Amino acid sequence: MLPTMTVSEAIEARHSVRAFTDQPVSQLTVRSLLEKASQAPSGGNLQPWVIHALAGGQLERLKSAVLGKLERGERETGEYAIYPPGLPEPYRRRRREAGAQRYAALGIAREEDGMAVLERMNFVFFGAPIGLFFCIDRRMGPPQWADLGMFMQSFMLLAVEAGLATCPQEIWSTWPRTVAGELGLPDELMIFAGMSLGYEDKASPINSYRTMRAPLENFAILRGFD
Ligand SMILES: Cc1cc2nc3c(=O)[nH]c(=O)nc-3n(C[C@H](O)[C@H](O)[C@H](O)COP(=O)(O)O)c2cc1C
Repeated sequence: MLPTMTVSEAIEARHSVRAFTDQPVSQLTVRSLLEKASQAPSGGNLQPWVIHALAGGQLERLKSAVLGKLERGERETGEYAIYPPGLPEPYRRRRREAGAQRYAALGIAREEDGMAVLERMNFVFFGAPIGLFFCIDRRMGPPQWADLGMFMQSFMLLAVEAGLATCPQEIWSTWPRTVAGELGLPDELMIFAGMSLGYEDKASPINSYRTMRAPLENFAILRGFD
């Protein structure tokens, strides 16, 4: 029995984990996390989320399909622009800093080398036993994408409560045709992001650092308080 955790503790403990142990995660656990996360709010209670969870041979098949194409130098057109063109400051700097932390943790000096290594790690779900895909009807717009994000955060916090770790992965949206084919997605569904789920490999250097956050004064405006 795990000790009870407060929401604040779960938020504090959650971080993107990029190396996992071999310890499996049962279907029962994944079902329970998904069921509980479905309490996430959504505008008009649309619940505009569809999740595919893969384990075992199914997961291996999907990983091989993408890795094979990647190694042959193939590429697909992504579902959406992950970042806006000409990413402005301060977002550009934050993105660079997060990348630099990842490459430093792997002991890689050059950004291009780090990106290539990380890309491959992403497409094996960082060695996690479970790979999830968070999908949405392509007729939905930004409000429903936000709903899906709330589902994902609820899922990640519940995973922490269950002693598990996650890494959300929008990079999976860059292989829409291959992934849709493997999952048998109908045309109206698109992939927003993948997610790795499993037990954190606490000894791995890639999991050893924490990302920074801007101070409250940089993002919050409070008025009219006594
Ligand atoms: C929607 C979303 C997509 C993300 N996609 C990726 C990804 O494709 N690959 C990756 O390594 N990290 C990905 N991340 C993780 C972010 O880099 C990470 O959340 C951020 O740097 C803050 O670090 P933290 O999660 O450890 O607090 C994603 C995060 C979110 C919320």
